[in-house]
This record gives sequence, structure tokens and C-alpha cells, in this order.
Amino acid sequence: MYLKGTRMATSSIAIERTHSSRLAGVDMTNLPFGTVFSDHMVVADYAEGRWGPATVRPYAPLALPPSISALQYGLSVFEGLKAHRDAEGRVLLFRAPENAARLNRSAARLAMPEVPESLFLDSLRTLLDIDRDWVPPATAGALYIRPCLFAVDESLRVKPGERFAFLIATCPVGAYFTGATDVLVSETFVRAFPGGTGDIKAAGNYAAAFIADADAKAQGFSTVLWLDGLERRFVEECGVMNVFFVFADRIVTPALSGTILAGVTRHSVLTLLREMGHQVEERRVAIEEVCAAHDRGELREVFGTGTAATVSPVGRIRYRGCDLVLPPLEQRQVGPAVRERLVGIMTGLLPDPYGWVERL
Ligand code: COI
Repeated sequence: MYLKGTRMATSSIAIERTHSSRLAGVDMTNLPFGTVFSDHMVVADYAEGRWGPATVRPYAPLALPPSISALQYGLSVFEGLKAHRDAEGRVLLFRAPENAARLNRSAARLAMPEVPESLFLDSLRTLLDIDRDWVPPATAGALYIRPCLFAVDESLRVKPGERFAFLIATCPVGAYFTGATDVLVSETFVRAFPGGTGDIKAAGNYAAAFIADADAKAQGFSTVLWLDGLERRFVEECGVMNVFFVFADRIVTPALSGTILAGVTRHSVLTLLREMGHQVEERRVAIEEVCAAHDRGELREVFGTGTAATVSPVGRIRYRGCDLVLPPLEQRQVGPAVRERLVGIMTGLLPDPYGWVERL
């Protein structure tokens, strides 16, 4: 059993260090999202019904056969989580056990083996220990952590995988979105449908969404506001984020109905909003309800939540050619306040009453 706050147990994790760190070439004050990778990564292999030991080794291309089922049939799931640096320079990992559990829910849906929680967490702690200097100062951003699990069977047979790889790579990142995002309601494309994979982090979910995102961008929007797949009426997600609507007297976010990702940030924001005294409802939200509240002047804020984006305001929603323009950012209270509280906990500036943060 691994105790919170203790140093990592590295005994079963092989470590191969790089001889040429790339860190000196990275400008930590001007970080892009997701294109600069730290020096090391975790790799573990699964074959014949069991996981082999994890290795932390230099971040480098993988040598894999062209026929692997991750490439051919999309047998691949991933996670996203973050570590921050506190004012004393310590590394703070946010809610990693939640991500380990969600990876396994994703794996189960695609008939993949579970990654033992200890493999996920201990190898991650070891990686963060070795690459701790890659965690940016809290003012500059965070270390985004990308675990993924994919099938490496060398076979074109359409069948569940038998051999898998688990990887963790990390990137120092700045903001995912700067300023407000403008979103286009898509009635042409859907990201999820009942019985599908919308509630897990399957790589293919994101692949299937790119065309809608490109369509939104071509019309001058940042991303898509997704409606449900059956009636094209109920709001589900906002691009790659969960979505919250702040009405005059309540805050509403779509309930986890089986087509919506159970975001760790979503859950954290719900917890903090309730703690802050807001009335928050998890239920279906029809796009007509959003339009009607806007027309009555009762739509105060809309924001997205996600690991990458944290809490990100929406500036404008276009639905069937009409624009719902949200109040200017200076007038918003709920989104900025919950973001400040969340980031305060993540970065150690504020107490962590929920035990979300692990100090490494
Ligand atoms: C995240 O917020 O971690 C995501 O998975 C969104 C995106 C970067 C894929």
C-alpha cells in the first residue's frame, strides 16, 4: 500500500536516464499546449494475461509493427491529469487515483485489461521524481500528464487485443485556451450516442470530433457545443470539455447519462460550487432552455471544464444562425471564483479539504 505524501517506491520500476536533457532549451514562461515533452516516459507491456514491470526511460519514438490493432482498429484509450509546483517548489499531483480508475473504465469498455492502480501510480510518481524539474512554476502553467493504453497485437483479425502497451508521457503546458471560447452548436455531427463510447476516453472519440471542430473553426468559432445524438436537443459537452450554465438562480451541468465523460475537473468544480453555496443541478439541459434564459437576460455565464482547460469561459454560442452573446468576462463571478479556488487547491495556495492533492 502506498501512503499519501511518502516518496515513491521505485524498487520494481527499472530506470534508464537520458544523457542529454532537453530541459535547458525550454522556455517555461511561454509554453504551448502539448508539443513539448519532458525527458522521460513510462513504458509497460502486457502479454499472456499479465503486466510486465514498468520502465522509466528516455522519451523517444516507439518501434512498433504497422499492423498493430491500435493503429488499425483504434484500440486505444488515454487519460489527462496535471501536476503543479507549489510556492516552495514541491510537486503536487492532482487526483491521480481518479484518473487511474477512469482509465480502467475506458479499458473495460474496449475489452482491454485493467492497468493495476499501483502500476499507474507508482510508475507516475517515479517519472515525476525523475522529471521534477520539468514541472513549471505555478504562474507559468502545469505539467500535463498523458497516460495511454493501446493494443499492440500484430494482427489484422478483428478481435479484442491480447498484447498491450501502457505509456505515460508528460509535457509542461501553458493555457489550453486564452480568453473566451466561441462555440458553434453542431446539429450535423454528434460525439456520442447511448451505448457508445462517449463516457470513456477512447482515442477514437476525439478522432470522430475533428471534422466538427474544423467546421466550427472555418466559421470563426473555437469549437463545438455538442448536442445529444438522438434528439439533437440536449447539450452534452463543449468541445473537449464538460459544460456548465450559470442561470440567474441556479447552475446546471448535464447529468452523466452514459454519453458524457465523467470529468475529474467536472466533479471537482461541482464539489467546490456546492461548497461555495451555489444551487447546482445535474440534469438534462435543452438548448431551447439556454436560448430562452439568454433572451430573458438570465444566462449569466457558460464555462467549460477539463483537465487541459481547467475552467474556461464561453463568450458566444451560435445556434441555428442566432448568436447568444454572454456577458463580458469582467462581469462574470462564478467561473472565475471556482477556477481560483480550484487552482488554489491544485497549486497548494489554498488548503485541500478533500484530500485531492498528493505532495511528491
Ligand atoms: C483533457 O482535458 O485532459 C483532455 O483530455 C482534453 C484534450 C487535451 C484531449
